Amino acid sequence: VVQSIEAPFILGIGGTASGGSSAERALAIALQEAQRLGARTMLIGGETLVSLPHYLVPSEAGPSVAAELVSAVRNAHGLILSSPAYHGTVSALVKNAIDHIEETARDQRIYLDGVPVGLIATAHGWQATGGTLATLRAIVHSLRGWPTPMGVAIKTTDGLFSDGGCSDPDVHRQLVLVGQQVFEFASERRMASSMR
Ligand SMILES: Cc1cc2nc3c(=O)[nH]c(=O)nc-3n(C[C@H](O)[C@H](O)[C@H](O)COP(=O)(O)O)c2cc1C
Repeated sequence: VVQSIEAPFILGIGGTASGGSSAERALAIALQEAQRLGARTMLIGGETLVSLPHYLVPSEAGPSVAAELVSAVRNAHGLILSSPAYHGTVSALVKNAIDHIEETARDQRIYLDGVPVGLIATAHGWQATGGTLATLRAIVHSLRGWPTPMGVAIKTTDGLFSDGGCSDPDVHRQLVLVGQQVFEFASERRMASSMR
């Protein structure tokens, strides 16, 4: 018997310390698509990421913003990570947020086990977009997550993103595809586990 299951929860994490970054706007487009398809979504952007403390080992009862991030990750059926390239790789701000996922190391669902993860990298140059995307994939593999087939490398230019969305239809299409792939994989996994 297939039980009815609630909509998947898809969490987006990314951006830069200055709000409204390309990375955050790109993330919002991918999440909007997941939401359009029926997902519950949440975006943890640059404004929140700057208030996250450095991740400490052993962990301490930190400020609530860290607990909220970890709780959102624990509840997520799908994730989308979006980072600018800083010196050729994932920015420290985004990596610190990822480091907090270490708190889930002893959960029953360890790290991102079985979780689809869409990836977005922005940079001024192509070389850094590629390096950052590849690093994000390596990180997701180490957390047992499932990087989606589509990963988006975005060479940022003035005016590419605005409040109205993305001016490049190819980039927009790729971001939408990431939202779709995360949604579909998360939904299919939820369906499969409800039948076990
Ligand atoms: C500290 C720092 C390091 C950066 N390093 C690189 C880099 O190595 N290669 C590159 O192409 N862009 C680099 N950038 C540019 C960012 O990737 C760019 O700002 C990013 O695409 C976000 O765009 P936005 O500012 O329009 O949101 C760097 C930016 C900063 C602030």
